[in-house]
Amino acid sequence: MAEKTGFPTEAAEVKHTGLVTEATGVKKTALVAGAAGVIGSSLVQYLESLGDWKVISLSRRGGPQHIPVDLLDPEDSKRQLAHLKDITHVFYSAFVDKPTWIALVPPNLAMLTNLINAVEPNNKGLQHVSLMQGYKVYGAHYGPFKTPARETDANHMPPEFNIDQQQFLEQRQSGSKWSWSAIRPSVVGGTSLGNPMNLALVIAMYAGISKELNLPLRFPGKPGAYRTIMEMTDADLLAKATIWAATTPSAANQAFNVSNGDLFRWEELWPKIADYFHMETAPTLPMPLKTIMADKGPLYKKMQDKYGLAPHPYEELSSWTFGDFVFSWDYDFFGDGSKLRRMGFHTYVDTEKMFYQLFDKFKSEKVIPG
Ligand SMILES: NC(=O)c1ccc[n+]([C@@H]2O[C@H](COP(=O)([O-])OP(=O)(O)OC[C@H]3O[C@@H](n4cnc5c(N)ncnc54)[C@H](OP(=O)(O)O)[C@@H]3O)[C@@H](O)[C@H]2O)c1
Repeated sequence: MAEKTGFPTEAAEVKHTGLVTEATGVKKTALVAGAAGVIGSSLVQYLESLGDWKVISLSRRGGPQHIPVDLLDPEDSKRQLAHLKDITHVFYSAFVDKPTWIALVPPNLAMLTNLINAVEPNNKGLQHVSLMQGYKVYGAHYGPFKTPARETDANHMPPEFNIDQQQFLEQRQSGSKWSWSAIRPSVVGGTSLGNPMNLALVIAMYAGISKELNLPLRFPGKPGAYRTIMEMTDADLLAKATIWAATTPSAANQAFNVSNGDLFRWEELWPKIADYFHMETAPTLPMPLKTIMADKGPLYKKMQDKYGLAPHPYEELSSWTFGDFVFSWDYDFFGDGSKLRRMGFHTYVDTEKMFYQLFDKFKSEKVIPG
């Protein structure tokens, strides 16, 4: 069992050559869709650290090592990906957010379909398609769901884009040489910025601004949420588990819950997080972050000047709706992560330390004061 220490430097030598990252001794080629995301960015980093992968990244916004592509557009997907011929593994963690559960279905199913349509015909050596899901498969977003949630639990009533995506892959894979896996993390702890779902960033920004106002770090969710049993999934651990499932023959064509391996209640962890920020706590008060943080942009701008913070727009750092969502869960929120471990993946992350390492990173990258 290993605790989180960041990625090992397993890479022999990694060259950045235009749109692909190529390592010496390359045996496999990964196409990562959603590479700019909370999940996809860690996946890219981990693949690059391994040394035997060529890594090709996709996202709309592009970037030094990204192919810019709009997966919602079938023609753009075919055009931008037509030159790819040696993909062995597709890692799908793209996601487009929408205001309702039903509205999530068409675009998220279309993006996966457009990607596979653009890649499968030209890449005869395709071995695996990995699909990033989450506990929405278990109905965790609706209310008290059965815990621990297991991979064998029955599906819930549609609409549910995660289930539609998995069914699409299952049907498409039937009779093909490649296999699929479906990866189901809990709430993910990662360091990427400008994404709609990053809980550690929500807490770091909320703490930084509370501290600037000389306020205690007050849990802003439902009182019941303070006492519920929770778990998290570290983005680096998730990357390792995703690649393990994509490259382990006995894991083919299956789903896996992926979590850190420990459970917590905010009532125990929150005061420790306050300690980390050298802050006091105060009794919980259900305050919608989306409302109370809406007018804090000018204050954050002053903090950027005062503490020499990086010039990120406040709006890009604010996943307040996601914070409100997570802090509203006044029911147990955890899955059974034993299938993954029983089948041979044994990495474990201490959730308390994970938070401190993520906060350290936000400090060192000058997102919050040090
Ligand atoms: N974050 C969590 O806590 C969490 C927990 C459990 C499960 N999940 C699931 O994991 C998946 C990924 O989540 P995430 O948090 O990593 O998402 P994210 O941070 O929002 O990343 C989404 C990625 O998709 C790309 N993308 C969006 N629209 C696109 C388009 N039209 N064409 C091409 N690329 C597009 C985005 O890049 P561009 O904007 O540049 O295109 C970005 O790279 C989702 O299904 C989510 O439900 C997330």
